[in-house]
Amino acid sequence: MTIYPDIIQGQPDDASQALIFLVPGIAKAGSLPLPDNERNYLRKKLDQKEELVVIQGMGQWKLIVLGTEQENLPALLENSRKLGTRVRKILTEAHIRECGLVDSTGDSKLVIAFLEGMVLSGYQFLKYLTGKEKEKRKYSLEKCTVSCQEIPAGDFHSFRYLLEGVYAARDLVNEPLSYLTAVQLGKEFEKMGTEAGFRVEVFNKKKIESLRMGGLLAVNRGSIDPPTFTVMEYKPPHAVNKKPYVLVGKGVVYDTGGLSLKPTKDSMDYMKSDMAGAAAVAGAMYAIARSQLPVHVLALVPATDNRPDGNAYAPGDVITMYDGTTVEVLNTDAEGRMILADALSYARQYEPELVVELSTLTGSASMALGPYGIVGMGNAGKSLFTRLQQCGEEVYERVVEFPFWQEYRDQLKSEIADLKNIGEREGGAISAGKFLEHFTGYPFIHLDIAGPAFLNKENHYRKKGGTGVGVRLLVRFFREITLEKEKR
Ligand code: BES
Ligand code: ZN
Ligand code: ZN
Repeated sequence: MTIYPDIIQGQPDDASQALIFLVPGIAKAGSLPLPDNERNYLRKKLDQKEELVVIQGMGQWKLIVLGTEQENLPALLENSRKLGTRVRKILTEAHIRECGLVDSTGDSKLVIAFLEGMVLSGYQFLKYLTGKEKEKRKYSLEKCTVSCQEIPAGDFHSFRYLLEGVYAARDLVNEPLSYLTAVQLGKEFEKMGTEAGFRVEVFNKKKIESLRMGGLLAVNRGSIDPPTFTVMEYKPPHAVNKKPYVLVGKGVVYDTGGLSLKPTKDSMDYMKSDMAGAAAVAGAMYAIARSQLPVHVLALVPATDNRPDGNAYAPGDVITMYDGTTVEVLNTDAEGRMILADALSYARQYEPELVVELSTLTGSASMALGPYGIVGMGNAGKSLFTRLQQCGEEVYERVVEFPFWQEYRDQLKSEIADLKNIGEREGGAISAGKFLEHFTGYPFIHLDIAGPAFLNKENHYRKKGGTGVGVRLLVRFFREITLEKEKR
């Protein structure tokens, strides 16, 4: 996986067509090695409260970046990512290929956030463009040499792998169904596993049938392509945990709604993104394994498309799930919970420490927060959830906790089966979470990423299309957990 620009630790040399100076404040900006005229210009701009000053000198561009005055750490870091985005845009417009970054803030978090903005905004999905158009659109910036003593080499590499994981997740979300079927998704996971060093096993339809994964098979019935169920595992020798962490990702490679068909505009037309949960867990596995984080973690992805057809599952059907629960289907568009239920009950055999499940599960979650937040809920306890939320603030993939009250569970009572697959419209994100909880039996966190997974318009370093949301959140979460357990 190649990221743009690629980032390398070292001293920027003459190959750098631009130098970026990260400085902690106006005082420090005064001591930059600049000729008098440039220093005066810089002073003037900084006095006007500019955070970013561009000096287009002879031969080499200089970009002085300040941006250190914010209310709190999350705001500071997010501002730094935005500045990274602005700088990357300027350099791209100037057709610059190589740049260097010189840090004098001494704040590794700030530097990393800045680079994050540069690299994540440098993401492009150009696979399906051809000829001249592809060349024309491709960003010029290829390399950035970073000088910052405060980042240990190991951390720098891990950071690079994290960005690769986000790129990989975005690619998967942006791939249309015409390429990314459930079978192909399994193949992509295998490639990622080989590259990063984790085990991948993809169950085919026969195996899924023999396991009697009734939810996954029901959703797949209208499809001409077979379903897959992928188990990924990273188990390093020095894992800090005895019981594994399990990630579960919704892998609906395309959601037409099935017989409860979606309208096309602003609805079905986005539904190649309905495997963003799967993409997030795979991207996280990639980064975790590649940076050899000492944590034993598994990821499960049930995958299929959801289509109407002569044999499609129908509203009114009663389905027997993998764990034997019977479900009355009242809306075939509530397919995510059907396939996730099987994955969640499959996870019981691992006696997990915690299961975190990510899915583009409900329009209701997207309505509640839009693209700015993840709807979270669960039964894993206050302290774990708060930890996850703190990680969310720092990486700016924020999680809002929704209640997980019994009343929402009561809505799922059926006359003729153990459960029905929809509750009321109001609070729909929560009854969906409650449906999933039925299939757990271990500490469980459900993250509904329907809002932030896929953007219709660019938002700074989150490009139009797949955002890769969840990857940075999960990796940060597991990094914190391993750090804490290692200390003990
Ligand atoms: N994949 C959709 C949810 C979704 C909506 C994701 C918008 C991203 C953006 C999911 O399968 C779905 O259709 N959910 C239904 C559930 C309803 C029928 C109970 C919904 O939210 O409308
Ligand atoms: Zn649906
Ligand atoms: Zn869906």
